[in-house]
Amino acid sequence: MFSSKLWRRGLFFLLITGFVVLYVSLFGSSYTFLPVRPLSVSKTDETVIMDENIAIDLYNSVRVICIILSMEKNLDTKTSAVNTTWANRCNKHYFIMTTELRTPDIINSEYPDNRSYLMHKVRSAFAFVHDKHMEDIDWVFKADDDTYAIIENLRFLLSHYDANKPGYLGFKFDKFVASGFMSGGAGYVISRQSLKQLVQSGIRENKCPFLTHEEFTRLGEDRAIAECLEKVNVPRLISRDVFGRDTFHPYQIELHYLGGLPNTLFTWCKEPAVEGRNCCSQFTISFHYTNPKSMLLMDHLLYKTSVYGRSVPTQMGKIMQVGQYKP
Ligand SMILES: *[C@@H]1O[C@H](CO)[C@@H](O)[C@H](O)[C@H]1NC(C)=O
Ligand SMILES: *[C@@H]1O[C@H](CO)[C@@H](O)[C@H](O)[C@H]1NC(C)=O
Repeated sequence: MFSSKLWRRGLFFLLITGFVVLYVSLFGSSYTFLPVRPLSVSKTDETVIMDENIAIDLYNSVRVICIILSMEKNLDTKTSAVNTTWANRCNKHYFIMTTELRTPDIINSEYPDNRSYLMHKVRSAFAFVHDKHMEDIDWVFKADDDTYAIIENLRFLLSHYDANKPGYLGFKFDKFVASGFMSGGAGYVISRQSLKQLVQSGIRENKCPFLTHEEFTRLGEDRAIAECLEKVNVPRLISRDVFGRDTFHPYQIELHYLGGLPNTLFTWCKEPAVEGRNCCSQFTISFHYTNPKSMLLMDHLLYKTSVYGRSVPTQMGKIMQVGQYKP
């Protein structure tokens, strides 16, 4: 009698524990996307004491337009986190999605709002930027709504290059496309001259034909754009620092820094990713797979927090590798 009661009690506890574990794994992980309350963003925050003169000079001389792939269902989560953090540091930004919502920072796509139409959305966004902003931008940065980007560091890297020459930067995979392709999630950037070549000869003169929906899906957005950039002779430019550390990162900072990156980051790359303390340049530009909460946290640590008595010297010497990869 006593032992069967004990047995039943044991079973009861087992069930409860099972439910708790199931609940936590379904709803409790740090990767569930809770709505992000839009915080007010001002370009200058008078509660933060900071000398931003160099960053402001670069804001005016290296003009970056950001196009951010998103979806209507992410508006209150991922889109909001990007809009609250780094999007406003671009000289201009657009979210690409299919929605009824009309705001000046959305490029409305005519395609279904899901992963199989990424390429269609990105092509139309490049064409839109080409037609509307050719005169007021120098570089186009394409990212996803789970990319976290430090735009000031992007401008610093780009300041080593000429926007009037063709050029394409990001985290390079040497696979599928002869001259390599830049990870779409880490974000990639092309110069104004590359945008001209991509849209005018690639898209409009049909050097990069519009593939069927199935072909685009199979190829993936980043590879399809890389293929097109190859066809219109846009060279791949180096984006590492002189210590061999990456600036663009296809995974979240935890995996790059603490380890656990997938094999493709080593086997698909002539210059494999490095895990650990040499993962990331001091002037790192991006991390993919950053969830909205982490985005807000990283942003707070980077932009609202300083370590007293430390700053970057105005004259640093050579810190970035500059040049182009051999085709
Ligand atoms: C992004 O934030 C601005 C305010 O800073 C707002 O006007 C705009 O509508 C927001 N965009 C989206 C897509 O939510
Ligand atoms: C995207 O939407 C289209 C049209 O609604 C549908 O045919 C396709 O299967 C969808 N793809 C995915 C990955 O959901």
